[in-house]
Amino acid sequence: MLTSCTTETRQASPSAHDPAELSAGLLAREASISPKFLYDALGSRLFEAICELPEYYPTRTEAAIFERHGADIARAAGAGVTLIDLGAGNCAKAAALFPLLRPRQYVAVDISTEFVSDALDRLRLRHPGLDMQACGLDFSQRFDLPPGVRDERRLFFYPGSSIGNFSPDEAVAFLRRLRGQCGDDGGLLIGIDLDKDKAVLDAAYDDELGVTAAFNRNVLRHANRLAGADFDIRRWRHHGFFNPDEGRVEMHLEAERDQIVRWRGGAREFVRGERIHTENSYKYRPADAIDLLERGGFEAARIWTDLRRWFAVIHAQAMH
Ligand code: AVJ
Repeated sequence: MLTSCTTETRQASPSAHDPAELSAGLLAREASISPKFLYDALGSRLFEAICELPEYYPTRTEAAIFERHGADIARAAGAGVTLIDLGAGNCAKAAALFPLLRPRQYVAVDISTEFVSDALDRLRLRHPGLDMQACGLDFSQRFDLPPGVRDERRLFFYPGSSIGNFSPDEAVAFLRRLRGQCGDDGGLLIGIDLDKDKAVLDAAYDDELGVTAAFNRNVLRHANRLAGADFDIRRWRHHGFFNPDEGRVEMHLEAERDQIVRWRGGAREFVRGERIHTENSYKYRPADAIDLLERGGFEAARIWTDLRRWFAVIHAQAMH
């Protein structure tokens, strides 16, 4: 596991991505690339652009929930917490909560090390009095928080429905690891995208401008750089759609013709029409989301949703 954290200085490693994991996924019978590889520096920016798209409702809907219920949410979560932001990205969501939540310490964790530490450098200028740390690590695996992170009243902040990238069983295992990392006074503030009309979901993951397509196809540029692969990106087509049988959105990249791809550690022939699975994004019904949290060791205390019930923000407490 790769961990690098900042106090004042910039860390040496630009990324916590493991090329061996990338290679293993490409060699599997059904080829896949873990969605975490979507987030190199450009991928993180393309995701920011996705959040501006009219079709991509989650970010906007979640922000509206925080806007409308922020005071209530902050009251439930409590002031003076150690706020640990998982997948912090540009840190904007957490920063918007600072005035209400008044955290004792802010820890921004992201796999895109350079991106998050740049964001934190800017945030420090706006909040010079707040104790902050950036931490470049892959929290989807077993992880350790650095020693500087306070262990009282930890509040894990996991917005945006990124939990949807895990299968339900993986999500439970992940939540249990979080539960293990916060004491009995710890909690979780999480955003979960809810089950909805297929047409809305299809549009959100295959937008008319093609930004999501660029975000998905960029994973191949990342693979070319990270593993010395020779993907010809023009030969790969984006698919993003809701699979109602599995209760999840799926993203794939489809080979537009037969081709051989080589990289450090492997090579593979792809026939025309063959796909690389790059992401799942599970959508939950509110009751299933609460159930998932409970299986993971958290008691859902409060749930806030928007009027259309498209998205939920949940505050949960560590179960004793
Ligand atoms: C950042 C994982 C929440 O699943 O909606 C956006 C990523 N993928 N468009 C999501 C994503 C395609 C996003 N998460």
